[in-house]
Amino acid sequence: MARLRLGVMISGRGSNLQALIDACQGLAFPAEIACVVSNVRGAQGIERARAAGIPGVVVPHKGYPDRQSFEADLTRVHFAHGVDLVCNAGFMRILTPSFFDTWADRVINIHPSLLPAFPGLRTHERAIAAGCRFSGCTVHFVRPEVDAGPIIVQAAVPVRPDDTPEALAGRVLAEEHRIYPLAIRWLAEGRVQLDGTRAIVAEAEVPAGALINPAG
Ligand code: GAR
Repeated sequence: MARLRLGVMISGRGSNLQALIDACQGLAFPAEIACVVSNVRGAQGIERARAAGIPGVVVPHKGYPDRQSFEADLTRVHFAHGVDLVCNAGFMRILTPSFFDTWADRVINIHPSLLPAFPGLRTHERAIAAGCRFSGCTVHFVRPEVDAGPIIVQAAVPVRPDDTPEALAGRVLAEEHRIYPLAIRWLAEGRVQLDGTRAIVAEAEVPAGALINPAG
């Protein structure tokens, strides 16, 4: 079967990108990375892409008069590489509704909190300040609202009484690297159906750990 072709969008370090690169190297993994797009020049993720022999393209948002023309170029790059699914991995730009005219239900994102709690920035600091006993990460379909959309998979980690944002971020990041490839596998295998505001995952194998599958 043809592998799902991913266009991964990044803005920086690219550790989630690396987790996807590593997963895609598995012969049985049902997806491959067609291109990596960064809106930031010099992003470490672009180096990771090139080291893996994947086309890395920089589309600097600062060079555009408006978001629509920037996004039109993102779309052009994805089309040129035959992308099926856009995967935001630390991509720190808000996408406008016009991007979704082309990519409706074909953009996913990873976010370092248990959405809908703590969309936006400084998630770990805010989870600690709120006294949360658990935090985690979420892979979800992207909607024009920031860090919103049907949840595909989440993983939870404990928040410790003496946690620092950095320590919690490290614990969450390890789970991010685990669940992003898993969500893509489920999508590529056709197990994910949208039902209004929910994504239902059918007959998926849920590995041991803190994973939460919305289908139970
Ligand atoms: C990750 O923690 C990701 O969840 C977060 O940015 C980090 C990127 O790290 N994304 C967001 O906050 C999106 N709202 P990485 O570049 O090493 O993958």
